[in-house]
Amino acid sequence: MFEVRDRDGLARIGTIETRHGRVTTPALLPVVNPNRPIVSPADLAKRFHAEILITNAYILGKGPSRDRALREGVHALLGFPGAVMTDSGAFQSHVYGDVDVTNAEVIEFQKSIGTDLGTMLDVFSEPSHDRDRAFADIDETIHRAKEADSLRGDMALVGAVQGGLHPDLRERCAREVSSLGVSVCAIGGVVPLLESYRFRDLVGVIIASKKGLDPSKPVHLFGAGHPMVFPLAVLLGCDLFDSASYAKYARDGRMLFPEGTRRASELRETGCACPICTEHSIGDIAANETLLAEHNLHVCFAAVREVRRAIAQGDLWELVERRARAHPSLLGALRELRQHNAFLEESEPISRRGALYYVGPETAHRPILHRFRRRAIERYRPPPSKGLLVLPERGRPFSETFAPILSQVLPQANVHAVVKSLWGPVPIELDHVWPMSQSIVPERPDIESLEAAEVFFREWAAGAGFDFGVLWEGPSTLEELQARAPGGRVPDWKALRVRATAEFQFGLGAADALLRGLISYVVSKNNGKVRNVLADGEHVLSLRAEDGLFTLKAAGARRLRAAFPSPRLRVIVEPDSVPFQRDGKNVFAGFVRDADPEIRPGDEVLVVSPEDDLCAVAQAAMNRREMRAFKRGVAARVREGVPPPASAPRR
Ligand code: GUN
Ligand code: ZN
Repeated sequence: MFEVRDRDGLARIGTIETRHGRVTTPALLPVVNPNRPIVSPADLAKRFHAEILITNAYILGKGPSRDRALREGVHALLGFPGAVMTDSGAFQSHVYGDVDVTNAEVIEFQKSIGTDLGTMLDVFSEPSHDRDRAFADIDETIHRAKEADSLRGDMALVGAVQGGLHPDLRERCAREVSSLGVSVCAIGGVVPLLESYRFRDLVGVIIASKKGLDPSKPVHLFGAGHPMVFPLAVLLGCDLFDSASYAKYARDGRMLFPEGTRRASELRETGCACPICTEHSIGDIAANETLLAEHNLHVCFAAVREVRRAIAQGDLWELVERRARAHPSLLGALRELRQHNAFLEESEPISRRGALYYVGPETAHRPILHRFRRRAIERYRPPPSKGLLVLPERGRPFSETFAPILSQVLPQANVHAVVKSLWGPVPIELDHVWPMSQSIVPERPDIESLEAAEVFFREWAAGAGFDFGVLWEGPSTLEELQARAPGGRVPDWKALRVRATAEFQFGLGAADALLRGLISYVVSKNNGKVRNVLADGEHVLSLRAEDGLFTLKAAGARRLRAAFPSPRLRVIVEPDSVPFQRDGKNVFAGFVRDADPEIRPGDEVLVVSPEDDLCAVAQAAMNRREMRAFKRGVAARVREGVPPPASAPRR
C-alpha cells in the first residue's frame, strides 16, 4: 500500500494507494468540518490539487449529515473525488474530557460511510500524564488497536501511538500498534505540544515513536498543521499531516507563513506569491475568512511541496536548519537533534549530491558529520609517524590547499598531517571523502563552531597515538617540528588514500583484505587522481570523483567475503532470489533474509545466499531494519552479478 520512491535519511517521498486514488507523501490533509466547510472539498481537489483530506467521523456521526453519510458515503457527502481519512473522536475526548462512543462503534461507522483510512478510538495521552497514567493510556490504546484490527474488515486502518512524554512507552506503543494490520501509524497526543511551541518535546516524542514503528508504514502526525513544523517533522520520518490551522487561523484573522503567523489587519503587504495575495488587496483578504483560509492553504501546500523538493535534492537538513531560525523554540528543537545522532545516523546516506552548506553552528552536528568523526576514531589508523602537524580550517580541498606546506615539511620532519576542520579532524588523506571537500563554510567561523571544532579535535587526538601535535603557524613551526621529530617521510599519497578510504568505508581490516598482492592504479588523465585500484591485476575498487568513496568490484567483494565473517557487509537473500542477483537484477526487500546492521543507505554491499555464496555486488538503498520491514521496493541496487563458481556442481 505504501511505496517509498525517494528518501533522504528518515525523510521519504512515497505513494499510498487508496480506493480513491494514489496519494503522494509527504502530504497535507486539510481538515474539513463536515458541518461547516470553509473551503469546499471540491475546491480542495480542483484548485488546490489535494489528493486526500481528513474529516471527523465522530462529529459526522453526531451531526445532521449522519444519515446522508450512511446512505451516500462520505465521498458523495463531501463532494470529494480523492482519498478521505476520518478521525475517531480521540481528540474530542481530549477537549471535552470524554466521548460517548465506543471504539467498536466508531470503527463500524467509518466502515459504513466508506472511508479510505479509518482511525481507531485511541486514548489521548496528555503530555502531563505521569508514567503510570501514560502506561494505562497505551495499555488501553494497544487493546483498542487490536480490537479495531479485528473489526476493520477491508477498511484500511490508522493505528495511534500514545504514551505522553515517556520515550519507552512511546516506543513500545509504536512497536505493538505498527505490528498489527494497520496501514498508517499516527503519532497522537502532540497537539498540546504544538500549541505551546514545545518543539523540543515534539522531537523526543517523534523519535521515540519512530524507534518502535515499522519503517515500511507511513506515519501521520496528528494535529500538525503549521508549515513551520513540516520540514522538521518530515526530517524525522513523518509522512502525513492534518491541518485545521488553515481554517482556525483564518477565523481568527491570521495568516500562515512558512516562518510563522501574522495578523492580516496589521499587514500592509503579505510578501506572499500565492494566487490570493497576488490577486487581492490586503484589505480584502483581511476582511474575508475564505480568502484568508485559501491563502493559508496555498502556503501549507507550498511548504509541503518545498519539503518534497528538498528530499529529492538531498538538502532537507539545510532547509530544516534555515527554517529553525523562524522561532527560538524551533531552534531549540534543532539543537536537540544531536542527542539522537546514534539513531539518526542509521538512516543517513553515506553521501549526497552536491555540496554541504554551513547554515549555523548546528550544522557540525548533522548525522553525516557525527558519523565522519566516529569513523575517524574507530576506523582510521594513521601511518607510523612521531608527531602530528595540525593544519587550520582553510580552503578546501585541504590536500590541495596545504600541498605546498606538506611538500616542505614532510621531507624534513617525521610527522603526519590532520586538518582541524569545523566538522572535526580530517586526516589529510581522507579529505576527499564526502562532505569534507564538498563543504561551503564561512571564511570567518563563529566562536561556537570553533569551540566545537576544538572539542572534536581533542576527542580524536587523545586516542590517535601521536607523541605530540603542533598547530601550523608558519615557517617557525617547521623548525619546531624538525627539532621534535627529526627525520622525514616521503609518503606514497595514493597508497595512503586508498588504504585509509577502504578502512573508513568498509571497516578496519578491509585495506589488508582488498589490497593484498601487487597494487597498481588506473589514474585519471585529467587530474592525476586514482580511478581504479587493481590488486594482482584484479580490478578490486573504483574511486568515485563525486564523493571520494569506492565502488566495489566483484574481485574486491570476494576478498572482503573471505576476510570478514557473515553478516559483515552482507545482504543475505532468500534462495529464490539468488539466480536473479547472479543475473544482475536488483534485490527486493521482500527477499532479504538478513543483513549487516552496520549497512547504511548507499553502502557497497555483498549480496550472498543463505550459504554465504557471493551472488552480486550491490549498493544498499536501505539499512537492515528497513530491508527486513519492507515487503516492496528495492533494498539494494545490483551493480554486478556474480556467476556461481565454475567448479560448483550444477543442479
Ligand atoms: N487529533 C489530534 N490529536 C489526536 C490524537 O492523539 N488521536 C486522534 N485519533 N486524533 C487526534
Ligand atoms: Zn498568500
